[in-house]
Amino acid sequence: MLEQNIKGEQCAIKTYNAFMKKTKDKDPVTYNMLPTILSQEVEHEEDLQALLEDVNLIMHSK
Ligand SMILES: [Fe+2]
Repeated sequence: MLEQNIKGEQCAIKTYNAFMKKTKDKDPVTYNMLPTILSQEVEHEEDLQALLEDVNLIMHSK
């Protein structure tokens, strides 16, 4: 389940990156909002990765 969530975040990151490219020079209001959203998704991904590593450590220590 964690792996699926990580993939979901990675997909969101890709989508927002593509959206930034599309809105650049065309829709500055949207474009300027995207880095904030993107950084939140990167944070989600990092948090989930860290959680997955912790889970793996606990699982393999038993
Ligand atoms: Fe997210």
